[in-house]
Amino acid sequence: MHLLGVSALVLATATFASAATTKPTSTSSGVLAVESPAWLPDFGVPSGVNAGYPTGALNTSKTLSHKTLDLSAYPEPWEAPSTTHAEIKAVMNAIDWTKVPKAPIVKTNSNGEIDMTKYDESKDAYCWWSSTNCVKPKSSYLPPDVSVCPNSGDWGLNYDDGPFNPIGDDTDKWAEPELYNFLAENGNQKATLFYIGSNVVTFPEAAKRAINDGHVLCVHTWSHPSMTTQTNAQVVAELYWTLRAIKEATGVTTKCWRPPFGDVDDRVRAIAWQMGLQTMLWDQDTNDWDMPGDGGGKLAPSKVDGYFEDWIETRKKGTDKHGHIVLQHELNNATVKMAEKWLPKLQESFNVVSIQQCLNVTQPYWETNWVYPTKNENVTAITNTTTAIPSVGPSTTDINLGYTATSSIPSASSASSAKSTTTDLSVKSSNTDESSASLVAVHGLSLLAATALCASYLL
Ligand SMILES: *[C@@H]1O[C@H](CO)[C@@H](O)[C@H](O)[C@H]1NC(C)=O
Ligand SMILES: *[C@@H]1O[C@H](CO)[C@@H](O)[C@H](O)[C@H]1NC(C)=O
Ligand SMILES: *[C@@H]1O[C@H](CO)[C@@H](O)[C@H](O)[C@H]1NC(C)=O
Ligand SMILES: *[C@@H]1O[C@H](CO)[C@@H](O)[C@H](O)[C@H]1NC(C)=O
Ligand SMILES: *[C@@H]1O[C@H](CO)[C@@H](O)[C@H](O)[C@H]1NC(C)=O
Ligand SMILES: [Zn+2]
Repeated sequence: MHLLGVSALVLATATFASAATTKPTSTSSGVLAVESPAWLPDFGVPSGVNAGYPTGALNTSKTLSHKTLDLSAYPEPWEAPSTTHAEIKAVMNAIDWTKVPKAPIVKTNSNGEIDMTKYDESKDAYCWWSSTNCVKPKSSYLPPDVSVCPNSGDWGLNYDDGPFNPIGDDTDKWAEPELYNFLAENGNQKATLFYIGSNVVTFPEAAKRAINDGHVLCVHTWSHPSMTTQTNAQVVAELYWTLRAIKEATGVTTKCWRPPFGDVDDRVRAIAWQMGLQTMLWDQDTNDWDMPGDGGGKLAPSKVDGYFEDWIETRKKGTDKHGHIVLQHELNNATVKMAEKWLPKLQESFNVVSIQQCLNVTQPYWETNWVYPTKNENVTAITNTTTAIPSVGPSTTDINLGYTATSSIPSASSASSAKSTTTDLSVKSSNTDESSASLVAVHGLSLLAATALCASYLL
């Protein structure tokens, strides 16, 4: 079975006139690692999505339609997707399984926590991040994970678990487009957004707003499992439906993903890579998901304030060895509030950009009409509202979610164990979330000083 490269190049040729075709690319090892996925449907241009990176004023209206995508085409939101669906089989057939390391599928213990006891961490044969913080795959054709911004002073702003769907009247204010408006109004700030497919299908208008605002959209799985516990087919399904949802909602096929809880090994990385996705982690963690808030935990917000204070203090001292990618969430009212509290302060001390901009990656999608600014390009800050964004397109179905659907709250809320970091800000959280708790096994390793990388791997 050939790698994707041989078959592909389908792209949305009909729909992205200027996008034309992306040439297949190969890594230095000659392995055709990523290719415009031929197995994704061609959706046509979604209505209400810009033709490319925004150069005009952004729309900061506070309202977004709550029409969903056609949910009948997708697995049940927040449920484990079927592995026998024809679309999943097509992806399975396109993957070269001889290039996927046969790492054991990780078991969970009676508490539902991943079981690391059988893993030889001194050998770390599969570069399992949850066990060792490994970010440099043992498989030679896989690039290192992205986990830092190479240059000191850069802050690769990113938020997981979005788009934040409205969950009830009390919290509607904090659901999107709240954070996206805040970013637009605060220096036209750009961020990298790791999206959950289940949240995209139920709130595609928020994804459209995000891409129109110039944020970078990446995959964060369909139902947020620990990916090393998933079979090969389950890994494919978690990634596939999210890629598909983002493409249907926004017209782009993204090249980046982040594993929930950071739980990734070379088996999972290899599958993601052959599906066109580079793995992106982080070097510092706010643990914001664990603060009291809707679906949150018990971590005192003052603790999280303390981390931000320390990062800014360290920056002022000039002792940072590289720039940061700090894990934050658009998960609930508490995390969004915290994000808004600290962004202006971060902007005073750091060069706050998307992860891709700190890496100088200008084309995060296979569709080449989307070209983001290069590393040192100064993007004019425009905070006024003028861009006309038509209402939803024909492919959407009006389904009233009722906004009380608590199923849209990630029950396995995010973030990982707080790993020891260079500034040792990790925390043993007191969270009660089983899934997250499973990863609160801190190994006391300082984060591997993963050096630059990236741009060349991402093309
Ligand atoms: C989040 O919303 C809940 C109500 O749904 C409320 O109890 C809590 O105080 C809010 N937290 C924050 C930080 O706004
Ligand atoms: C960023 O990439 C562009 C090409 O896309 C290149 O011209 C430029 O020199 C790079 N800038 C840095 C700072 O690496
Ligand atoms: C970018 O533009 C803003 C607004 O014009 C300006 O304040 C800032 O100094 C510029 N930054 C760089 C690096 O040129
Ligand atoms: C935005 O545009 C409106 C109408 O053109 C104008 O009244 C307002 O002052 C502008 N706001 C900013 C922040 O430029
Ligand atoms: C801004 O976006 C909203 C929601 O999509 C839309 O209804 C509105 O027409 C847009 N505003 C402008 C000025 O285009
Ligand atoms: Zn997450």
